[in-house]
Formats: sequence, structure tokens, C-alpha cells
Amino acid sequence: MQEHLTVVDHPLVQHKLTLMRDKATPTAVFRQLLREISTLLAYEVTRGLDMTTKEIETPLTTMDAPVLDGRKLALVSILRAGNGLLDGMLDLIPSARVGFVGLYRDEETLKPVQYYCKLPGEIDSRLVIAVDPMLATGNSSAAAIDLIKEAGAKDIRFLCLLAAPEGVARMKEAHPDVPIVTAAVDEKLNELGYIVPGLGDAGDRMFGTK
Ligand code: URA
Repeated sequence: MQEHLTVVDHPLVQHKLTLMRDKATPTAVFRQLLREISTLLAYEVTRGLDMTTKEIETPLTTMDAPVLDGRKLALVSILRAGNGLLDGMLDLIPSARVGFVGLYRDEETLKPVQYYCKLPGEIDSRLVIAVDPMLATGNSSAAAIDLIKEAGAKDIRFLCLLAAPEGVARMKEAHPDVPIVTAAVDEKLNELGYIVPGLGDAGDRMFGTK
């Protein structure tokens, strides 16, 4: 995957995203849509995985058929909203290992501080897909990628549902080697750091909190 930013403009993705943006969409429906859309985004973020061939017998003949080359995959959820993307992705790539990174913003320094980090072993030989639905300022996403790199990961992709131009720029500056896949890049961030038009607080929308 070469592009730094890929916007998945597939009609199914865009339709589901519109339903998710609508504030009238209830929690259970929002969660189901997130699961569906994450499967579709997983399809795009895994494009270009290394392939090899394996000899199989069809009912008619033998053939060298394409298979994934077996390099291990890891999904890393950036807590807590990243968890909403996991199930749909695991439907498509069930053998992927799963890690978690938790960060909070220090009220004084305004810098992201790690409160939890549990990553799969052999992270240096895995393709790591870090997931967070909202790429807003990009500060916590960039810090999460820092942690994943410190653990040894060398091949990382970032998957989100919605991005702000500011977040894309921040990630490009901090991690130009990490391609981003998203369903949309919205207009801007507001003064509270929400993506506009956005969909609100993704964690609150999916977990029914406020
Ligand atoms: N996180 C969210 O959940 N929503 C935003 O709009 C920005 C960050």
C-alpha cells in the first residue's frame, strides 16, 4: 500500500456512514452499522497483503491457487472507541491477534499519557492495523503509533471511520510511513476537538454513554 491516505468511497460504505452520522440513529443500530462498515473497511486496509500459491485439487484438475502468504496480522484497538471496529474486522480476518492501547490526555500538559498497553508477541514480524473510529487532532493516534513502534512494529497501517484534515496532517508529519484508510475526511475540527460535521462522540454513540 503506497498512498498515505485512502478514502473508501464505496456506495455501501458511504450509505452506512450517513446512517451513522444521523443523530436519530439509535445505539444498537449505530453499533451494528459500525460492525458492517468495519468489515468493508477491513477489505480495503488489507488490500495488497502478500500472497503466495498453494497446490490444490479442484474436482477437475490440480492448480497453483493464491493464498495469503501467512504473515501474521495484529489489530490494535485504541481504547475505547477502537473496540467498536474489532468485531467486524475479525469477521473477515478471524486469526488476527488483537492488542489494546489506552491513552488519556493530561489536563495540565495536554499531552497523551499511556494507561494501558497490551500488544501481541512477535509484533516486529506482523502487519499491525491500528484502529480508532475518529482521527480528530491526531495527537492520541500519533502517540498510540509511537507506542506500537516502540514495541518493535515496523509495518503499520491506521484505520478509521472519519478523519479531520488536521488529524491527517498530524499523522503525516509524525508517521509518514503509516498509511491511513478512512471512509471520509470531514470539513474541520470545532473548538472542542469534535469532527464537523462528524457523528458526535463515537464512544458515546456506540456504548450509549453520555
Ligand atoms: N472523538 C470522537 O468520538 N468524535 C469526534 O468528533 C472527535 C473525537
